[in-house]
Amino acid sequence: MGVVQDIPLLQTTCDIWDKIQNFQAREDDILIASFPKAGSMWVQEIMDLILLNGDIKKSMRAPCFLKVPFIDLNAAPLPSVEAANGMESPRIIKTHLPLQLIPPSFWEKNVKVIYVARNAKDSMVSYFYFQKMNKMLPDPGTWNEYFSKFLAGNVPWGSWFDHVIGWWRAKDKHQILFVFYEDMIEDPKREIRKISQFLGKELTEEVLDIIQHHTSFDIMKENPMANLSTLPSFVIDQSISPFIRKGKVGDWRNHFLVVQNALFDEEYMKKMKGVGLNFRNEL
Ligand code: A3P
Repeated sequence: MGVVQDIPLLQTTCDIWDKIQNFQAREDDILIASFPKAGSMWVQEIMDLILLNGDIKKSMRAPCFLKVPFIDLNAAPLPSVEAANGMESPRIIKTHLPLQLIPPSFWEKNVKVIYVARNAKDSMVSYFYFQKMNKMLPDPGTWNEYFSKFLAGNVPWGSWFDHVIGWWRAKDKHQILFVFYEDMIEDPKREIRKISQFLGKELTEEVLDIIQHHTSFDIMKENPMANLSTLPSFVIDQSISPFIRKGKVGDWRNHFLVVQNALFDEEYMKKMKGVGLNFRNEL
C-alpha cells in the first residue's frame, strides 16, 4: 500500500494522485462517497435507476462498475479519472476517499454528494471477506489479525472512524445527504424516495416500487450487471466469498469474539463520543 497525507491507499491509486486531485467535476455530477463496504453498489444502482425514471432495460446497459467511474481506483480497464472525463452528463461518480482528499473541483462546483454509511462492526466483517476475495486488495490475514488492522485504520482508505466523522462534520457545509445502510435495510422504499428527492426527482409510487424490487438483495445477487460476475476470477474470486454476500445488519455477531467486542466498544466510545453520529449495530 502507499500513503497520501497519512491515509493508506492502494499504491496504484497513489501512482495517479495528481490526476485524481486535478479531476474536473461538473455542476450536475453526483458523487457517491463511502468507506468501503457500506453498500455503495446498492445505492449506485438505485441512483442510476432514479435518473432513468425506473427504466430497468436501460439500467442493464452495462455493469455498474462501468456505468459509475471510480475516480480513486486505478485498475484499467475499469473506468477512473480519464474515462470519467469522456462521459456524458449527468455522471454518477464513485469515491472511497476521506473528505480531506476529495478533488477540490467537487466543492468549487458545489456537487451533490450521497454519503453511504454503515455501522463499523458489519463494515469490518464485510471488508474482511472482500479483502480475501478481491485480489487487488492486500490479503487480510486471519480474522484476529484483521480485527486489529481495521481498528488501527491500517486498511485501504484508512480509518472507518476518521472517514465517517470527517464526512459527517462537513454535511452542513456542502450538499451532502447521509444514507445509512441500516435504514435502507429497514425501509428501502423510504430511503429511495429520500435519495430521489435529494436528486430533485419526483417519482411515482409505482416507479419507486420498481426500483425497490430491482435493487433488492435477491435480485441484485442474480443480476450480472451488479454482482461483479463479469469480472475475471483472478481479480474477484467469488468462490472465496460472493460480492453480494449476506446483506444483513448484525452479521458481526457471527464473527466478533466477546473480548473483541468489549475492546471494540471501548475504542468506539473514545473515538465517537460527542460526534453526534449514531449507528445501529442491529435492527
Ligand atoms: P455484506 O458483505 O455484509 O453482505 P459495497 O457495495 O460498498 O462494496 O458494499 C457491499 C455490501 O453491501 C455487502 O455486504 C453486500 O452484500 C451488500 N449489498 C449489496 N447489494 C445489496 C442489496 N441489494 N441489499 C442489501 N445489501 C446489499
